[in-house]
Amino acid sequence: MRRLDQLLANLGYCSRREARDWIADGRVTVRGEAADDCAQKAAPAEVRVDGEPLDHPDGLLLLLHKPIGLVCSHDLREGPNVYALLPARWRQRNPLVTSVGRLDKDTSGLLLLTDQSPLVHRLTSPKHKVPKLYRATVDRDLAPDLVPLFASGTLRLDGEDAPCAPAGLRLVTPREAEVTLTEGKYHQVRRMFAAGGATVLTLHRERFGPLALDDLAPGQWRELPLDTFE
Ligand code: URA
Repeated sequence: MRRLDQLLANLGYCSRREARDWIADGRVTVRGEAADDCAQKAAPAEVRVDGEPLDHPDGLLLLLHKPIGLVCSHDLREGPNVYALLPARWRQRNPLVTSVGRLDKDTSGLLLLTDQSPLVHRLTSPKHKVPKLYRATVDRDLAPDLVPLFASGTLRLDGEDAPCAPAGLRLVTPREAEVTLTEGKYHQVRRMFAAGGATVLTLHRERFGPLALDDLAPGQWRELPLDTFE
């Protein structure tokens, strides 16, 4: 049971101050009866606004095809972000809708967004070893001996104490490869190739655990059930 004003504010409808006006205007009902007190407590499933059930009261989990050029940070000083792609109400939720790990501004592909912080922690923890599949193109022919180097668990990147966990590398063409990581160090794919003497030209994440983009176009998202990873 949650206070009505808090519920509406946390789900991004309006401020708590505005919720008071919405309630006074009779826009909010609980079990079919117009609410008259913003401090009234109700179960989210019993509440309607303008006759409509509440928007995802239990949480959000989204699969986004991140386009190049957007950042995953909420800090607008870092540039336009992926959250601008979402409906305004979802951008105003508390807890915030945030990305599960990050993709660089210049990386495209599969990005999960959620307001469920335990899920973020679970999916980004190296302990859980969720495999992420990337496709990279590079500026020079890749030496086949990069495959055992990536797999070795001994590749240490500049500035990192721990070596990279064993990673899969499949050479698709001499300048294109698939990389599978179970962790997410800063700029990890770019830095791993740099350690092997190559510069990444394009980077795209194709899969996250069991999930793929399928035919989702850049900038589009689809909703996932909250229990997708249970
Ligand atoms: N590795 C990178 O270098 N960049 C990403 O965006 C993701 C993985």
